[in-house]
Amino acid sequence: MIKRAHFSALCLFLTLSGCQSASNNQSNSLTDSTVNVNADINGTVLAADSLTLDLAKLKVDGAFASPQTIRVADDPVFHSAKTYRALPLRALLEKYTTLKTLDPAQTQIVFECEDGYSPSMPLSMVLDKKAYLAVSDADAPTGQDWVVAKKNGETKKVAPFYVVYTDVPTTAHDYKWPYNLARISLVSAAKEFAAIYPHDDDTMVRGFGLFQRNCGICHALNGVGGQMGPELNYPKSVTEYWRSTADLKAFVKAPTSYRHNCKMPAVKYLSDNELDEIMWYLQYMAGHKVKG
Ligand code: HEC
Repeated sequence: MIKRAHFSALCLFLTLSGCQSASNNQSNSLTDSTVNVNADINGTVLAADSLTLDLAKLKVDGAFASPQTIRVADDPVFHSAKTYRALPLRALLEKYTTLKTLDPAQTQIVFECEDGYSPSMPLSMVLDKKAYLAVSDADAPTGQDWVVAKKNGETKKVAPFYVVYTDVPTTAHDYKWPYNLARISLVSAAKEFAAIYPHDDDTMVRGFGLFQRNCGICHALNGVGGQMGPELNYPKSVTEYWRSTADLKAFVKAPTSYRHNCKMPAVKYLSDNELDEIMWYLQYMAGHKVKG
């Protein structure tokens, strides 16, 4: 059983990354998914981990019919002031769940992007701010819902949905802005992390936090995490088939020096010490496999 105190501490570790979706042409299978709200006989919404909002489906159902116009002073994806048609995220979540019955600090909000990028953060962070689900770009040419964002010659597909804030500065790195968004889920932090939290070794908690923040957005361990990169623990941990952790570290710092045209971006902002903590955590996880 995971101690509550652990998860309060854990939440501090978590940051959220914007969905990276440069040159994303992937199709997605939105058509057959549904909005899952596990309601009991009286219609009350049960545990948080039962809620997934499929945004494309909600749009078809008319849930976004009356958006308001909001202005973001400094948009981190477009690098300019922007105007969106958007819905307050809190109101949207309140419509489909009994937010009052949830402990926002123990609940994770998970954003799933079309390309498999899957950042998450404590729900409390979102509820504390003026967060919006942008459903279209009010600055786009007439007849168009969105324009493609460009950065350093790369293009980013922002459609179909984008989470923005009107009161979070771009310097607040804990708040990231998922674009190219397909689904939003609320899950209990305990459930989300049960398979990857180092329950029996406190010295691994730092490595766990570092992994979550820097790698888990793209990689799963025991099936928990992003799908943009490969699963790294189950059935075989990367620490079991890579020759050494020195090689693994070197790969993480410069993937293309190992694999030509490697799709993983170089991780340049972690210190050697931090990478060691991640490696120790990965080795620890090799001894804690669970089928995800
Ligand atoms: C933006 C997404 C992204 C992030 C962030 C990311 N990776 Fe990756 N990673 C990938 C992708 C995509 C691949 C597959 C690369 C390929 O082979 O083209 C990959 C491959 C790998 C591999 C090789 C797997 C194998 O089976 O050989 C390892 C190891 C790895 N990543 C570790 C990490 C670690 C550790 C971090 C955090 C410090 C990290 N990655 C952060 C996307 C990411």
